[in-house]
Amino acid sequence: MPVLETITQRHAFRALSAEPIADEVLTEITQAGCLAPSCYNNQPWRIIVARGERLTALKTSLAEGNAWAQVAPAIIAMAVRACDDCRLEDGRDYAFYDAGLCAMNMILQATALGLVAHPIAGYSPAKAKKALGIPKDYVLINLIILGRRGESNSLTDWQRAAESGQRERRPVDTTVAFEAWPAAWQT
Ligand SMILES: Cc1cc2nc3c(=O)[nH]c(=O)nc-3n(C[C@H](O)[C@H](O)[C@H](O)COP(=O)(O)O)c2cc1C
Repeated sequence: MPVLETITQRHAFRALSAEPIADEVLTEITQAGCLAPSCYNNQPWRIIVARGERLTALKTSLAEGNAWAQVAPAIIAMAVRACDDCRLEDGRDYAFYDAGLCAMNMILQATALGLVAHPIAGYSPAKAKKALGIPKDYVLINLIILGRRGESNSLTDWQRAAESGQRERRPVDTTVAFEAWPAAWQT
C-alpha cells in the first residue's frame, strides 16, 4: 500500500473496541518504531507495551477527557531522556524529535494493520510512570492508545462528531513556504 494512502487513512479515532491485540501484532508495531532514524543512531526511545495488569494501572493515569481510552486493549508508552541523544546548539534536543519519528512509524504500521493508534498527552506522567516502573529521570513523552474501531456510544458529542468529520488543518500557506521565510509569517 502506498505510504500516502496509510497516512491519509490514519485518524485520531476515539471509538475503540476492547478486542485484544495479539502479541505478534504488538511486536510488529514496535519493530516498525525501532526502525526509525535517529541522530547518530542513538535510538533514545524506550517503549513499554502495556496490555495486562499494568495496563489497568496505567489507565488510572488518563485524564478525564481521555475516558474514551479506558477500553483500549493495549497502550504503548514512550519514554526518553535528552541526555541519551544529540544535544546541539540552538535548542536541538534530538531525543524528542527521534521519539516522534519512532512514534509515527508505530502509528503508521498500526494503521496499515487496520488498527487505531492514537497518541495522547492527556495523562498524569507521575501516575503513569509509577504504573509502568519508568524511572523518574525519563520523560514519558506520550502514550499511544491502540485498538480496533468500535462503538462511539461512550463519546461526548464533539468526540463523536470528530469521528466522521473532515481533517482540520491550517491553511498550507501558513505552514509551508518555498525558498525563504515569508514576510507574512513575521510576528
Ligand atoms: C502529542 C499529541 C498529544 C495528543 N493528545 C491527545 C489527548 O490527550 N487526547 C486526545 O483525544 N487526542 C490527543 N491527540 C490527538 C490530536 O488531537 C489529533 O491528532 C489532532 O486533533 C488531529 O487529528 P487527526 O490526528 O485525526 O488528524 C494528541 C496528538 C498528539 C500528536
